[in-house]
Amino acid sequence: MKLTVFNGSPRGKGSNTKTILEHFLNGFMTTGGNTYEVVYLVHIKDSDNFIKLFEEAEQVLLAFPLYIDAMPALVKTFIESLEPLCGRKSNPDIGFIVQSGFPEPIHSRYVERYLKKLAVRLGCRYKGTVIKGGVEVIRATPNWMNKGLFKSFFKLGKTFGTTGEFNAQIMRQLLKPEKLSKWHFRFFKLTGDKFYWDKLLKKNNAFEKRFTKPYIK
Ligand SMILES: Cc1cc2nc3c(=O)[nH]c(=O)nc-3n(C[C@H](O)[C@H](O)[C@H](O)COP(=O)(O)O)c2cc1C
Repeated sequence: MKLTVFNGSPRGKGSNTKTILEHFLNGFMTTGGNTYEVVYLVHIKDSDNFIKLFEEAEQVLLAFPLYIDAMPALVKTFIESLEPLCGRKSNPDIGFIVQSGFPEPIHSRYVERYLKKLAVRLGCRYKGTVIKGGVEVIRATPNWMNKGLFKSFFKLGKTFGTTGEFNAQIMRQLLKPEKLSKWHFRFFKLTGDKFYWDKLLKKNNAFEKRFTKPYIK
């Protein structure tokens, strides 16, 4: 099986999306004869080539982080660039991986509905959307703490490599917990927002602007 993978993170090769995909693809490659190509959508100057690669693909996997309850702008731009291919008979099958900072997959449910509809409109067979929350933590913690997550993506890739489908049981395991308990939520707000994200905002000189709404006149 030949898989064309689009990584939609603005962080490109330094992204959590890449880390997760690496484990998925290691599993995928355990089946002899499988091949893959990874395309980084952040390399916008190659965007004409993205459409060509999609057009020629047998199977497509589009993986991206959740940004503001949706997708990064470069993913939306890519999707819109596919419009000329809508309804083409030979469009590839398509599956998605959406990973987010908040641990609750419920945040990704709207984009999941969008992606399902997108596949139908493109005329691609929809293979499903793998959703995983709480992924930012992998860059702030040592690898051994994320062994379970990496193993799940390896197994997901391995079964995908043999069946061409996402394994429903592994997908369900990745979804847990759909919603945090009240206490777990408070703990997450404190450690995630106060210590991690605020520090990142300050490091990037963006802390003071964090509630800015440039779209409101
Ligand atoms: C601008 C921005 C917006 C984000 N919005 C959300 C969000 O709405 N919900 C969420 O759960 N995580 C959000 N996140 C967190 C990312 O989804 C998370 O850190 C992800 O693992 C980043 O993956 P990447 O390294 O592949 O880009 C946001 C991160 C950034 C930088």
